[in-house]
Amino acid sequence: MDMQPIAARPGNHNLANYEEKRASFDWEEVKKNFSWYETGKVNVAYETIDRHAENPDKKNQPALIYSAPDREEVLTFDQLKKASNQFANVLKDHGIEKGDRVFLFMPRSPEFYASFFGILKVGAIAGPLFEAFMEQAVRDRLEDSEATMLITTPDLLYRVPENELPNLKKIVLVGDSEKISERYINYYKETEQASEEFDIEWVDLEDGMLLHYTSGSTGKPKGVYHVHNAMIQHYATGDWVIDLKEDDIYWCTADPGWVTGTSYGIFAPWLHGVTNVIRGGRFTPESWYGTIDKHNVTVWYSAPTAFRKLVSSGVDVIKQFDLSSLRHVMSVGEPLNPEVITWGMKALNLRIHDTWWMTETGGMLIVNYPSMDIRPGSMGKPIPGVEAAIVDDQGNELPPNQMGNLAIKQGWPSMMRAIWKNPGKYESYFINGWYVSGDSAYMDEDGYFWFQGRLDDVINTSGERVGPFEVESKLIEHPAVAEAGVIGKPDPERGEIIKAFITLNDGYEANDELLEDIRVFVKTGLSAHAAPREIEVKDTIPKTRSGKIMRRLLKSWELGLPTGDTSTLEE
Ligand code: PRX
Repeated sequence: MDMQPIAARPGNHNLANYEEKRASFDWEEVKKNFSWYETGKVNVAYETIDRHAENPDKKNQPALIYSAPDREEVLTFDQLKKASNQFANVLKDHGIEKGDRVFLFMPRSPEFYASFFGILKVGAIAGPLFEAFMEQAVRDRLEDSEATMLITTPDLLYRVPENELPNLKKIVLVGDSEKISERYINYYKETEQASEEFDIEWVDLEDGMLLHYTSGSTGKPKGVYHVHNAMIQHYATGDWVIDLKEDDIYWCTADPGWVTGTSYGIFAPWLHGVTNVIRGGRFTPESWYGTIDKHNVTVWYSAPTAFRKLVSSGVDVIKQFDLSSLRHVMSVGEPLNPEVITWGMKALNLRIHDTWWMTETGGMLIVNYPSMDIRPGSMGKPIPGVEAAIVDDQGNELPPNQMGNLAIKQGWPSMMRAIWKNPGKYESYFINGWYVSGDSAYMDEDGYFWFQGRLDDVINTSGERVGPFEVESKLIEHPAVAEAGVIGKPDPERGEIIKAFITLNDGYEANDELLEDIRVFVKTGLSAHAAPREIEVKDTIPKTRSGKIMRRLLKSWELGLPTGDTSTLEE
């Protein structure tokens, strides 16, 4: 679909003149917005929460509006400061120190956010996990990070294989539980008794803040390591791209298990001291529109898969709600279909602004600004202070309109600092001074970037990154499965769905019941979003002579495309 550019809406946008800013930009300018610029004392939890709690004009402003079907709660900056201080004291009492890894495995709730900031306040590294993770997914991440503490709810505890995690010393349970021993800590009991005062552990800008596990095409999920310095970029993009103003009511729909839910669900809004809406519970069009209506949300950050669901739910639903509070809407995670932008213009009377970035990049890199013309289908242009290009496999820049590797010149503030315990993997991202994203794209003659696809086998289903290797590994643990190859298959709503090709062990016969059993096996062992929606039984799985599964060939077969070079295919 070829669409005309959509001109910027007139208005008082924070970044009024993009080209000018880009030309003269210096990150030093952004640093002046932080109290550490004067005091030299760094901790992102201080900048996001305590700084506002110390401001008499802001301390009683709602920081967090928690809204779930069974619970509504508002915490002011002052209350969030005190709640996180109490939890920081609990952590300290139990021996958590700077640099320790403390993981969170629970749904979004006020306790989640208080714990999250408590972890940062003691100088520890937070590792948020999706609530949907099952045993294997939880084990892989806690094992690799050598986490010493986990915060979870009693009903999720059965997915934590405690006996297999020797480093895991303590488990904080948010909720009532029969479990009482040295190992278990009752969140409510201990925070209630803890002091509301806490001496923040001041850290260095380069000290660890977060570990986000994400999938590649090979191997287990890898721990993407972020440091406090990332706040510089979260602040800047919160200003220029999210266009946050002091009295905004902001809603980012992402779970903090995903980097969007931390960088832009926690840091950016609270660095700017705005009121942040956190929604619990499942997605329905009614509950989503209802959230905007009820809380008068002004700025909304979501993902194409959600927008597509809203599009397909039709116009009658939307008419039941008053969405006139909305001023600015953004999207991330997958290509934003021009059709969705058209829907946004009609249904919301607003442009939807696409933003491109990755877990590894820690913050937005290529975006559409409120003050810029949108070319529907394009991810936009790099933010000031960031140089993006299309490069060939040797890291040489390619001219406009030529497809290649989307790459970013090294040296932006929120860039990951390591892959946890895997320096080789970290190094492999870089060629010739460029961070190579793994996405293919091209840049047009006016500097707009256009996403084309992933260059590796990573699957993007409903915006979630799924590594085929992880799913294949789980599949072959099923007694019936001999071999497995997993691909992403295009799907109009989810972007891609997971399709598995398997061969069966002797004595098993392909039937619906068995295939369903295999699907459930992955779902309950790994996570719901990693479970294949389609499973096809084959006689063999194509492999290279060296034994690698040829996912590309499986995909070509599935899509009826030419199979290309098959010279490495084993006999
Ligand atoms: O392929 C790109 C896709 O999502 C990948 C990164 O996934 P993840 O680390 O889970 O982080 C997503 C949220 C920061 C990218 O390599 N992707 C992300 N944003 C876009 C996108 N694809 C197209 N358009 C986007 N705006």
